[in-house]
Amino acid sequence: MPMNSAAMDVGSASGMVAAGSAVRVQQLRKVYGSEPQAVTALVGVNAVFQRGTFTAVMGPSGSGKSTLLQTAAGLDRPTSGMVWVGDTELSQLSETKLTKLRRSKVGFVFQAFNLIGALSVQENILLPLRLSGQRGDAAWIQQVVDRVGLTDRLTHRPAQLSGGQQQRVAIARALATRPEVIFCDEPTGALDTQTAGEVLALLRSVVDETGQTVIMVTHDPVAASYADRVMVLADGEVVHDMPQPGAERIAEHLASLGRRPRATQEG
Ligand SMILES: Nc1ncnc2c1ncn2[C@@H]1O[C@H](COP(=O)(O)OP(=O)(O)OP(=O)(O)O)[C@@H](O)[C@H]1O
Ligand SMILES: [Mg+2]
Repeated sequence: MPMNSAAMDVGSASGMVAAGSAVRVQQLRKVYGSEPQAVTALVGVNAVFQRGTFTAVMGPSGSGKSTLLQTAAGLDRPTSGMVWVGDTELSQLSETKLTKLRRSKVGFVFQAFNLIGALSVQENILLPLRLSGQRGDAAWIQQVVDRVGLTDRLTHRPAQLSGGQQQRVAIARALATRPEVIFCDEPTGALDTQTAGEVLALLRSVVDETGQTVIMVTHDPVAASYADRVMVLADGEVVHDMPQPGAERIAEHLASLGRRPRATQEG
């Protein structure tokens, strides 16, 4: 399979700022723990996520998807390699600057929601705005709350919500500040088909209407079919990178991973 152009320009060593890239990772490597128990979660991933695109990241459990998202979003430091958000290279930044950049440019929907139990739904959604000292766009926040179906739950605490409702709060929180890049780790994992469809349509619309960038981990080929591109990880490396493959082809690629003795780099 030919590599797409987004993946091609990764190697050009001196051209550090790819025009139009929202996020870029180069030789990204992450090792958890130390020998003899060290786990290599990412072996040296290269990837470019262009502005205004929607990418689905797929692959078996333990293949490094969450690790890729967390290091690319500046939530965790890689063992080696580089990450750019816009034209800022993250390894150069102090913790304070990194936190500031995250608050202003990045939204993150965690696999485990990470809502604050002591705050109401409304307070959870508004938290990133509060933390970054912004007032926010009230009409936009209202629209997000409506579209994730939380209007009648705003004063509830997370513990009073179902798993799917908590997931929707996490999604609304990530969208509230209109960040340039939204990272979502299995944002529809706890949702029924209809609610999942609404959330995916909302993610699709922020990409199409406001040019934000979405990078979404999912195990669901139907969810992935909302994306412009599907990247498949296995054993900490990218093994497929496909523009708009459609649910059927995605399912075939995932099935083929189970058949190969060891994942190999393609392209
Ligand atoms: N904090 C950690 N300490 C040690 N090992 C870790 C840690 N986080 C992840 N790992 C290991 O790194 C590898 C990749 O984990 P990661 O969470 O990125 O996988 P994933 O593709 O998101 O899987 P899933 O689909 O199950 O969420 C796994 O082998 C995991 O056990
Ligand atoms: Mg994960």
